[in-house]
Formats: sequence, structure tokens, C-alpha cells
Amino acid sequence: MELIFSKEAGRARCWFVFNNGEVLGHPQPEKTLALALKWAKEQDDFGGEANAVCTVSDLASGTTMLLAGLGDKDAFTHETLRRSASQLVRACCRKKLKSVSVGFADPSCLTKELARALAESLVMSGYRYTACLSKPQEEGLDIAYLDLPEALVSAAKEGALLGAAVREARELVNEPANIQTPLHLAEETQALGKRYGFEVEVLDEQEIKALGMKALTAVAQASVNPPAVIVMRYKGAPESGETLGLIGKAVTYDSGGLNLKAGARFITMKHDMAGSATVIGAMCAIAAAKLSVNVTAVAAACENVIAGNAYKPGDIIGSMGGKTIQVNSTDAEGRLTLIDAMTYAARKEKVTSMADIGTLTGAARRMFGDYGAPYVTTDRALGAKFADAAQTAGELVIEIPLIEDMKEMLRCPVADLLNTAAAEVGGMVTSSLFLREFTEGLPWVHIDAAGPCWLERDIYYETKGGSGWGVRSLYHLASLLAEK
Ligand code: BES
Ligand code: ZN
Ligand code: ZN
Repeated sequence: MELIFSKEAGRARCWFVFNNGEVLGHPQPEKTLALALKWAKEQDDFGGEANAVCTVSDLASGTTMLLAGLGDKDAFTHETLRRSASQLVRACCRKKLKSVSVGFADPSCLTKELARALAESLVMSGYRYTACLSKPQEEGLDIAYLDLPEALVSAAKEGALLGAAVREARELVNEPANIQTPLHLAEETQALGKRYGFEVEVLDEQEIKALGMKALTAVAQASVNPPAVIVMRYKGAPESGETLGLIGKAVTYDSGGLNLKAGARFITMKHDMAGSATVIGAMCAIAAAKLSVNVTAVAAACENVIAGNAYKPGDIIGSMGGKTIQVNSTDAEGRLTLIDAMTYAARKEKVTSMADIGTLTGAARRMFGDYGAPYVTTDRALGAKFADAAQTAGELVIEIPLIEDMKEMLRCPVADLLNTAAAEVGGMVTSSLFLREFTEGLPWVHIDAAGPCWLERDIYYETKGGSGWGVRSLYHLASLLAEK
């Protein structure tokens, strides 16, 4: 999907309509539009309801007119516009329209935030994963012409770039695990680094062992596909002493290990590297937008499978941070891979704050389903910035308290920590408390995106499968930390 900033008319024209009949950016609808609105009401009972779309053929000009509902004017936000635009894109795909144009006679109705949201949704909504089909398949809608005043074009371009970064993340997640091995993910990241403008270094198995990444090594050891630590660096503020660390869970396949998963739980587990796809996508956006901020991202990629040399429940393993861990469940592998990535980011890359994201626990998924993600933080200011960033992105995040008393569930007489609590309560909190032991005292947010990173259905501008959820939130977090 390409976004072109010009007046040129597409095959179809779109308008956004409130449920009081007002058209966004068209205070006095011209004659054809007024007729279309009348027809839509009378023939199709369309009255600008949120997420409703009505198609009217303008026989005189041979164009298709699409009306998309926005609902209540009082409740109108950037998220309303994203959702409404997603229905437009889907309607265009259903009707096999290849190009559309959106324009506003009076663009004073738009803010930069709205222009960005509109562009994001136009780019995100029509995505499908087609890379593995033997016959190449075209995307339903190819081009959207967006006619905006100069003052809003840069915001819309930022939105288009964010949409493109989300699509990169989706593509990485949707690639099946037989293709998306740790080394393949590293190669794809190198290619993205070249394209978007950030540096990529890949540490191989020997280097991983030499660094003392024993927790990562334990998870990775049963796979014929060796692990890889992918380090991405972007220096947009060379004078600044601050560097944001982004850490993404990169388990390219999670079978559970010897604590083997059951039945239907296997099929979607290629998406257990979605956290890394999110930080990679965020790096693409941050670099392309040339934000004045330093960001270093780390993804410790590996596969959690079984073989005779697999790590076992009861094993006591080390970590780069130095703490010893008794493995209670080999299926709680994500936290083991993340802690070595976090220690590496803090000690070797000298990041000064950290945000990690990953598909860590079923417990997080059960909390809010695919509607939102729980997060924890050790730093009020960083946590508040992250919440703001997510709000800007239209991604729902909910802060969960780090309940100190729950630390007792990770206590172990023969090692410094257990990797999971024996009790099946508070799984998201105990996993967070475990991770916190490896933050080296840095301001930290941890986002458990097990819910929204993988979708069983399209949800507005989010698409089925890998969703790229979190890319835009992390981008906005970096943007809030940038030198103004
Ligand atoms: N990758 C899973 C978490 C997950 C589950 C993500 C479902 C997406 C959908 C993670 O590695 C895992 O297996 N976690 C365990 C932890 C438990 C053993 C403490 C879980 O949540 O069951
Ligand atoms: Zn697992
Ligand atoms: Zn996992």
C-alpha cells in the first residue's frame, strides 16, 4: 500500500461522516456529496454510525463514493479516525478498488495527530501475509491519495512511516519457524538496518558463550538452529549521554521444551519472537524519522525445542548477570532469554533506561485478551512516558503493580531464584519480579504483549496473525525521550 500526497483522484473517493450528518472537513457538502448522503440514508439506512461504511456509485462521473461513519462528534478522537479509515480500506478491498482518494475541503478540522492517525490506518489496514503463496497475490488496495495542506503532510508522512514499520514487524512474525530461525531473523534485521538506517551487529554462539550468557544458552542448547544475539544501534543524539535500551523476546519457536506444550498450543508458537519484531519495527521507524535520541535494541534469538541435550526441570543454570536460577519450568524460557539480553544491554551497551517487550505469559493474555497489554515499571517518570506513548498510538496498556510479597514465590533453597513460581497465581507479576532482578538498577518498563501481539481475527486496522502491536508505542516512547 502506497500513500501519495496529492490531489490526483483515485478510482474511489472517501468521506468521513459523523452521526449528526456532518462530514469531516466538508462543512458545506457540495452537490454530489449531499446527494450521496441523502441516498445513503434513504436506501442504505447509513447515518454516520461508528464503523459503518456505505458505498454509492456516482454514475455521472463513474467514480465510487465511500462514506465512512465516525459516530458521535463529541467522542471523536484519533482512534475513531483510525478505526473508521480501517473500515474504508476493507470496503475498498472487498470491492476490488485499487485506488482511493481522501481530501478535505476545509482541512482546519484536522490536527497533526489526526493526520498521522489517518495515514497510519490507511497503511496498516490492508496488510496480508502472502510471502509463502506459490502464486503472487496482490494487495486489495494499492494506492491512497491523500490531499492535505503542507502543514499536515509531515505528520501524515510520519504516520505512513509508522504504518510501514508495523508491517515490517508483522512480516517477521508471520514467517513460519522453519524459515524464521534465529540466524534468519538476524539476517532480516541486518537488511532492515541497511534499509532504514541503523547499525546491526550479530553475536554468534561462541560470542554468546564467551559473554557468559548461560541462561540464553540453556534454552537454546537443544536446537540444531544456533542462537544469535541481535544488537541494533541508532545514534540520533551523539552529544547526549542517554541511551534507551529496547529488549525484545525472540524465541523463534516455543515448544515448551521438556515441559512440552499441549494440543492446540503449538500451532501459534512461531509468534514467540513477536517482542523482537516489535523492537525491530520500532528501530525502523525511529531511524527513518531521524529522531534525536540514542536507542540500542537487543534481541536474544533462540528456539525452545527438545532433544537429548535439552535443559531440564530442576537444572540449576547461571546467567550473564551472575545470579543462579533453578529451572522450574522449561516453558518459562522467555524470561531466561530476556535477562541475558538485559544484562548485555546494561553492561556492554551502557543503556541508561530499558523497555522490554515480549510474549511472556499466558497469564497476561488471560488478563486482557488481545485488547491490551499489562506492563510494570520501576520508574514513575519512565512508566508515565510509556503510558503517554501508548495513548498516542491508540494501543491499550494497563499498569500492574509489582507486588513485593510475591517475591517469596521465586525463592529457592539451592539457587538464587526459581524461574517460575510453583503456585499458579500472579504469573505476570512473578515473571516481572524475576526480570527485575536483572535491570541493574536502571529505570525499566516491562510489557507483556502475549495478548495483542498475535490475533485470531482482524481488529480494525490490526490484522490477523502477527499484529506488530507495540511498534508505535515504542516509537513514541523514544520520541518523548528525544531532545526537542
Ligand atoms: N510463550 C509463552 C507465553 C504465551 C502463551 C504467549 C500463549 C502467547 C500465547 C511462554 O513462554 C510460556 O510458555 N509461559 C508459561 C509460563 C509458565 C510456565 C509460568 C505460561 O504462561 O504458561
Ligand atoms: Zn514458553
Ligand atoms: Zn515463550
